[in-house]
Amino acid sequence: MKRRTAISAVGALALAGTHRAFAQQPIVIKFSHVVTNDTPKGKGALKFKELAEKYTAGKVRVEVYPNSTLYKDKEEMDALNSGAVQILAPSTAKFRPIGVPEFEALDLPYVFEGDAGYDKVVNGPIGKGLLKRLEAKGITGMAFWDNGFHMVSANTPLLMPADFQGLKIRISGSKIADLYFRALGALPQILAFSEVYQALQTGVVDGCENTPSNYYTQKFFEVQKHITVSNHAHLQYAVITNTKFWMGLPPDIRAQLDKAMTEASEYTNSIAKQENADSLAKIKASGKTTLHYLTPAQVSAWKAAFKPVYKEAEGRVGKQIVDELLTAAGIKI
Ligand code: LMR
Repeated sequence: MKRRTAISAVGALALAGTHRAFAQQPIVIKFSHVVTNDTPKGKGALKFKELAEKYTAGKVRVEVYPNSTLYKDKEEMDALNSGAVQILAPSTAKFRPIGVPEFEALDLPYVFEGDAGYDKVVNGPIGKGLLKRLEAKGITGMAFWDNGFHMVSANTPLLMPADFQGLKIRISGSKIADLYFRALGALPQILAFSEVYQALQTGVVDGCENTPSNYYTQKFFEVQKHITVSNHAHLQYAVITNTKFWMGLPPDIRAQLDKAMTEASEYTNSIAKQENADSLAKIKASGKTTLHYLTPAQVSAWKAAFKPVYKEAEGRVGKQIVDELLTAAGIKI
């Protein structure tokens, strides 16, 4: 009798220990993305980790998986839906597979009047409306993260629309990028981001578009003889989470994570411009490629070639969102 009591006391103690250990297990958030840590998005993800772990006093652990180490472009959305990851920050070119192609409207050429024009759109009713569209898909839109304007490259100079004729240009999936490269006479090809360097190196594609930070950190500039700093379109991300996961969090933790995301977003958006300027300077200093800047006449020629794209875009992403953006941009079609 005595002995039995002793055993159950030990058992009870062990059980209490297990409970304690269980209660102390942090909530793990996996944040997957496709760029390196040394980019605006990469740094933003690490900033979110730092702040989230600080504000929740370690109750949340954020694991950041950069550079397609966990998932490539398309697999990311499936992983979010299945709960295999909790946070992503895909470019707005990558929302068609989850049924929200309207995000691609932000890829339209020459619709933002510089950085201020971009900020106004994503922080205003258009940006808010886009994030709201995610709700019906079981996804919560948390923020937009900036990565600046695109450049475009090939092994021949790209100065006038005719220079694109017949070139295979890698795009990330946006039907809008598909439209504008076709308008220039190029043949757009969708490839995952992690496959671009090799495709350029081996000639699977002739060229690509991206921002200076992505050209630099993925070494695209080493395998492209000519880069045009064209600023023809903008690269931005929507940071998203799985709504079921998000709403299942204890409210106090959710509030702390919200604060961490707000501050991480401010940080990311504040460094994007300088990060890209630094990357462009490093690309230039490498001497491995020739940088070109368009003259006003060349810009006009690109704009003339892009004219049909705005109307065609209505069939790809919807008339309403195209109208909203063109009105904001003051473009009449
Ligand atoms: C791309 O595929 O080119 C971009 O979406 C990569 C990124 O996330 O910046």
